[in-house]
Amino acid sequence: MDHLIAPSLLAADFGNLEKEVRMVNSSQADWIHCDIMDGVFVPNISFGFPVLEKVNKIAEKPLDVHLMITDPDRFLSRFRDHGAAMLTVQYEACIHLHRTVSEIHNLGMKAGVAVNPHTPVALLENILPFTDMILIMSVNPGFGGQKFIEESYKKISVLRKMIDSGGYSVMIEVDGGVDVSNAGKLTGSGADVLVAGNSVFGAKDPLEAISRLKRLY
Ligand code: DX5
Ligand code: ZN
Repeated sequence: MDHLIAPSLLAADFGNLEKEVRMVNSSQADWIHCDIMDGVFVPNISFGFPVLEKVNKIAEKPLDVHLMITDPDRFLSRFRDHGAAMLTVQYEACIHLHRTVSEIHNLGMKAGVAVNPHTPVALLENILPFTDMILIMSVNPGFGGQKFIEESYKKISVLRKMIDSGGYSVMIEVDGGVDVSNAGKLTGSGADVLVAGNSVFGAKDPLEAISRLKRLY
């Protein structure tokens, strides 16, 4: 499949959020990535339901919601009610991951599982038959604008082999430090979805930045 682009609103101008979401609407982006942080799972707090609700009203692309929160089971249905099409939980935050993924599906959303840089993809073997997407964190979660961790390429290609050899239909998303300089190598390693925060919203021309990520040059 052609790769997808998911601009991360974490890097958007929150004083002009409506304008930023409309920019993404008019762009070649495929999804809108929304980072939810609770100050416990990660040392930062982003935004919650009231903001997501507004984004959902304006957005014309599917919301790709990435939960960096402990015990996400408490809130799954509320994220569905606030427009999440894809709901991704962190592997490290879920004691009963299979149950969480099943519940996301029961609520009518696609389910993703994110892994921190230190978490080996080998640990995902038994969740691959049940999930729609694996998100490889290529920085430590919590902040935008960090340096891409080079070891992520290897994780993506190992995971790609696991998915293909098992015959699973699972997308690979990569999140953190993605820009046009590494986008081609990431898709070449097997990534299907590229999340990009600062390389889009920090660009002089965000529409062009999205278009370049789509073209890979
Ligand atoms: C980090 C978030 C990312 C972040 C990426 O914890 O999950 O989605 O917004 O930002 P950049 O692309 O600037 O590294
Ligand atoms: Zn994210």
